[in-house]
Amino acid sequence: MLPKRRRVRAGSPHSAAASSAPPAARFPSVAIYLAEPRMGRSRRAFLTRLARSKGFRVLDAYSSEVTHVVMEQTSAQEAICWRKNMDALLSSCPQPALLDISWFTESMAAGQPVPEEGRHRLEVAEPRKEPLCSVTMPAYACQRPTPLTHHNTILSEALETLAEAAGFEGNEGRLLAFSRAASLLKSLSCPVTSLSQLQGLPHFGEHSSRVVQELLERGTCEEVEQVRCSERYQTMKLFTQVFGVGVKTADRWYQEGLRTLDELREQPQRLTQQQKAGLQYYQDLSTPVGRAEAEALQRLVEAAVRQTLPEATVTLTGGFRRGKLQGHDVDFLITHPEEGQEVGLLPRVMSYLQSQNYTMDAFERSFCILCLPQPPRAALEEPLHPCPTQKAVRVDLVVTPNSQFPFALLGWTGSQLFERELRRFSRREKGLWLNSHGLFDPGRKTFFHATSEEDIFRFLGLKYIPPEQRNA
Ligand code: UTP
Ligand code: MN
Repeated sequence: MLPKRRRVRAGSPHSAAASSAPPAARFPSVAIYLAEPRMGRSRRAFLTRLARSKGFRVLDAYSSEVTHVVMEQTSAQEAICWRKNMDALLSSCPQPALLDISWFTESMAAGQPVPEEGRHRLEVAEPRKEPLCSVTMPAYACQRPTPLTHHNTILSEALETLAEAAGFEGNEGRLLAFSRAASLLKSLSCPVTSLSQLQGLPHFGEHSSRVVQELLERGTCEEVEQVRCSERYQTMKLFTQVFGVGVKTADRWYQEGLRTLDELREQPQRLTQQQKAGLQYYQDLSTPVGRAEAEALQRLVEAAVRQTLPEATVTLTGGFRRGKLQGHDVDFLITHPEEGQEVGLLPRVMSYLQSQNYTMDAFERSFCILCLPQPPRAALEEPLHPCPTQKAVRVDLVVTPNSQFPFALLGWTGSQLFERELRRFSRREKGLWLNSHGLFDPGRKTFFHATSEEDIFRFLGLKYIPPEQRNA
């Protein structure tokens, strides 16, 4: 019993060690706690005696009364972590200053507490590498803004290459994993310079982390370079870029040993009409469409729609609505304020364009290739050419009844990953089914009525994300 009591009393003003200290603390606004971990018990006892002998108040136990925590050989990160753990044990949150031993020794030398300067503070002793873009980083791409240009292009492009390659192998899981990791990097408000910044980020698995680490350390990633140089990747990219060719067809051709577009052209009997057109216009169609061309096309489509059905409206969707400056096609959404008036509109628009010698090929309901006259300058450069040069451009025309317009607008604006995530969020988090026609509650068997995209975000309990922030 006795030794225990002694120990408890050791810190009291009546103990032998503190006998030289004045009965009351000289500096009532300062209550020091010496944190033991790196200090060691005997040194702590020595420093405690020293401080008390100079009239400082030193508390034996950590409590909400503590104003100054003093630590030795401790990093800021450790100190903050330590305080967090200690504060968790208290009912109030005192947040005392975290100070290096230098503050303590200087105060002892001065015989009074010296002002706390930056160099004493453990909070600023070491610049913190904020992993913190992450703490507030929600898991679904539809829950966060993703701008078109961002701070981590090299990293996101590398991961997107791996995503694309996984898609070529039909590995949907890997494609999504890399796409989500790439997309997260696009949402970050700062460039990633150290792997520690990715700590706690959702979707950052071992593989994506390894790729980022290699890029940060060496500037390139061997796996990504190997993929980019491989015959498989290059051929699959070439084939899937042909209008009308998907991964399955490209893979079949590859397995059969085909490698070039000329080899495909030699087997016309195996090609669909769409693929034939894709090969015929390959040069033009693989050249990105610029914004000016998209605007010229919009005027063209608007004129055709006006001729066909004057009240109908044309809205630019896809990447151009998200602010992209280039695209692989131009996407339009057509509707009419009066429900039902839009029925049969598309074939009439197409035949109007045809009558104006514009349409080259129309496929299925919406995908077509239009020949856009090049601006006069292009023709002037070759004055001997009798006809203005034309450029084949892929155009997606989608017609929607007015009641579905907001869903179609949201569904066709993209990006593709944003759409996927939006649908996954609806299903998994809200139990609702979303597509470009509507939002369905399978429990109640009812559809939501929306008059704007904002309505749909609201139904889903999501903050509204404007088109230019949907570049996931
Ligand atoms: P795009 O493939 O045109 O992509 O699809 P994009 O974002 O405009 O990019 P680029 O510049 O043309 O390459 C536009 C949107 O339409 C949807 C996609 O989900 C994407 O969000 N979409 C596309 C469909 O819903 N169904 C399709 O068959 C094609
Ligand atoms: Mn597009």
